[in-house]
Amino acid sequence: MTQDEQKRAVAAAAIQHIPVGCIVGVGTGSTANYFIDELAKIKNKIEGAVASSDVTAQRLKGHGIEVLDLNNVIDLPVYVDGADEITEHLHMIKGGGGALTREKIVAAVARKFICITDQSKLVNILGNFPLPVEVIPMARSYVAREIVHLGGHPALRQGFVTDNGNVILDVHGLQIMNPVELEATLNQITGVVTNGLFARRPADTLLLGTDKGVRTIT
Ligand code: 5RP
Repeated sequence: MTQDEQKRAVAAAAIQHIPVGCIVGVGTGSTANYFIDELAKIKNKIEGAVASSDVTAQRLKGHGIEVLDLNNVIDLPVYVDGADEITEHLHMIKGGGGALTREKIVAAVARKFICITDQSKLVNILGNFPLPVEVIPMARSYVAREIVHLGGHPALRQGFVTDNGNVILDVHGLQIMNPVELEATLNQITGVVTNGLFARRPADTLLLGTDKGVRTIT
């Protein structure tokens, strides 16, 4: 299977994990887009969706799926999203699409996080993919200096503003041996909104697209 076929396969497989009548948390990115297309086929069997970005909200609405405000949702049984890197421990780097903060909020509320990726995303050690950090604009230079002290090489994502009006620093050169600790350390830097490590709240299930089909890792 090509990478795209693997993404389509995991998106279709994720539908089996959606309880009838529930509200579904929906991620951002090309794999999540395939999931939205699959979700549209069962839209009459769900109550609605919570979106992790404006672009996802638009795509959901375009399919006639009701998009709910997370503040009005008490129970979110499941969140489905992709990742930029993921380990067998289900720790992830996310935020390649810049939606990391809203993704982390929806993931925090969800009872179950189902990650859907093609096999290229499975790694032994996180950090080859530059780690996105969302930063309040006036703190950009200060946060960048602090990240250099931690051994990273931050680069401002050019011409990009998040849905929350902030900027992204993509941190290169990390070999992340302890993602739980680094996630907390980065979030302690004043001016950081959040970072793209999803380790304190990892995925619960990974649906991994492979040449032989969809592999489930829990
Ligand atoms: C967006 C994300 C995406 O989940 C991540 O970038 C993966 O995207 P894709 O499915 O296009 O490879 O975190 O902020």
